[in-house]
Amino acid sequence: INCIGILTSGGDAPGMNAAIRAVTRAALYEGIKVKAIYRGYKGLISGEIKEFHTEDVSNIILRGGTILKTARCQEFVTPEGRKMAYDRLVEEEIDALVVIGGDGSLSGASVFSNEFNYPVVGLPGTIDNDLYGTDITIGYTTALNTIVDAVDKIRDTASSHDRLFIVEVMGRDAGFLALNGAIATGAEAAVIPECKYGPDQLMSSISHGLRSTKNSSIILVAESEITGGAMGVANLIKDRYPDYDVRVTILGHIQRGGSPCATDRIIASQMGIEAVRAILEGQRNVMVGIMNGEVVYVPFDRAIKGNKPVGDNMLNALAILSI
Ligand code: F6P
Repeated sequence: INCIGILTSGGDAPGMNAAIRAVTRAALYEGIKVKAIYRGYKGLISGEIKEFHTEDVSNIILRGGTILKTARCQEFVTPEGRKMAYDRLVEEEIDALVVIGGDGSLSGASVFSNEFNYPVVGLPGTIDNDLYGTDITIGYTTALNTIVDAVDKIRDTASSHDRLFIVEVMGRDAGFLALNGAIATGAEAAVIPECKYGPDQLMSSISHGLRSTKNSSIILVAESEITGGAMGVANLIKDRYPDYDVRVTILGHIQRGGSPCATDRIIASQMGIEAVRAILEGQRNVMVGIMNGEVVYVPFDRAIKGNKPVGDNMLNALAILSI
């Protein structure tokens, strides 16, 4: 391996820059050339590629977003698009690729790697934490901290006005941000796609328990068709309990931004170094994860299945703590 390519793809996540820095420096440390690919698979196809030296990644560990920019690329979903991407890698003499991204980006990496028998190693970069084979993904902890900051502020208004706040958080089809955000903020409930505890049961808990002993309530709702989102949950509650003073807050993209927390910087640095090691060991078609403090290589097919459990123990914790 003489040259490694690196790109970020899909939604940006805090800590992606720390990962870019780590991959770049670990490769240079091993005497391997690094080529940075801009705008994800889109830039790979169109050839937005630049050789990186150590100074190109100076002072980026603290920055949110991704200096390589990112995109969701429809062209890469087609065999023609992937062939153009492969031709570009050959033309640029890039021998292996590190892809930093979430579920969709690693699914694309998996198809591509199999199709062309080309070495690709993935790093889990997503605030959603929905990749199997790693305890946490790069960006998740910072996003969770952002949610905690925001919900703590909402709590002031909720308790001053005796209101019920329904707060929608991101996560695509996964409830990690909503569930753990609810536990960390002392919220009364979380509505998440993985859990049968749907809006109906929620309303019954509100009427029988929460509202009788507390003067304010906060419910975190994971965005998703299954949950109905915050508006869906709020409408159900308002229909059934018109007396409640209900407000909806959708946190949106503030959850994706900001300087990465220490945990995200550290795991991104560790995973970035391991991605280079994995390539040098001859690994391909795997995502680097950290489980119980140990670095693991997880085949893409397992990582992206979408079956990472939110944890029954955490669901129980919320139920116990919100009485
Ligand atoms: O995957 C990260 C994520 O922020 C999801 O939580 C959310 O559903 C989605 O991306 C939003 O995507 P976009 O920024 O393209 O609207």
